[in-house]
Amino acid sequence: MSHHIIEANELEYAYPDGTQALRGVSFRITHGESVGIVGANGAGKSTLLMLIAGCLVPSGGNLRTGDFPVSKETLARIRRTVGVVFQDPDDQLFMPTVGEDVAFGPTNMELSATEVERRTTAALESVGASRLRDRPPYRLSGGEKRRAAIACVLAMSPDILALDEPTSGLDPSARRSLIFLLRGFAHTKLIATHDLDLVLDACDRVMVLCEGRIAADGPARSVLADGPALAKWGLEAPLSVQGCPICGRRANGSDSAQRRDPV
Ligand SMILES: Nc1ncnc2c1ncn2[C@@H]1O[C@H](COP(=O)(O)OP(=O)(O)O)[C@@H](O)[C@H]1O
Ligand SMILES: [Mg+2]
Repeated sequence: MSHHIIEANELEYAYPDGTQALRGVSFRITHGESVGIVGANGAGKSTLLMLIAGCLVPSGGNLRTGDFPVSKETLARIRRTVGVVFQDPDDQLFMPTVGEDVAFGPTNMELSATEVERRTTAALESVGASRLRDRPPYRLSGGEKRRAAIACVLAMSPDILALDEPTSGLDPSARRSLIFLLRGFAHTKLIATHDLDLVLDACDRVMVLCEGRIAADGPARSVLADGPALAKWGLEAPLSVQGCPICGRRANGSDSAQRRDPV
């Protein structure tokens, strides 16, 4: 199913002011992979997501998202393939009610009213936000806004889900719910974040960006266990693999979301 594949070859991106955000980035992500994109501030994570989602056009090299090379001509089709959840949910919620926001995308896809209703109900249900349907988005908490923004994207049935810093501003319980939700999304997903514990919990693979280049790309568990390398890239080892500051013992078990969060 090539429509779920993302492939970059020597990808470059420079902003109009000349800032070179990505330099010679190459990778291939196949159907159903869950990939964390990590790196220090300014490493190029958001830029890479914006390119994959068709919000920016490469300045050099090649990028294919789904069936299409990312270019000015294909941006509209790519935006239908990739559902992107921006870092700030306020960028995504602009209708009088959450329900209208979630229905907005499917309505613009010219689906029947019955199908729009079906998708809206299902998307809200899948993020546990059915009760928010008639609420104005600006009155919601950070975690509720994040759920609503994810529902907006899920209602479009994207082949690829791309999230930028999805846990920023979430309390532990909202963070835990989000991790369970992400684990349940079967298609390809990309998560740009500096929450390395989130990557361990929700992604099999991680790509580390450092000053616009890929510094590492491999299984999340092994890449994120390399403390000295993480320090070199400006990252701290995930809490779940750090020793306890008091007794020095390492946490073990596979579910760091449950280990880390207070009950
Ligand atoms: N709109 C912009 N104009 C110019 N430079 C930008 C813009 N957005 C980001 N940058 C620069 O591009 C680089 C990568 O930024 P970004 O992709 O936002 O990194 P990250 O998401 O990893 O923090 C940084 O040097 C940043 O300052
Ligand atoms: Mg960013």
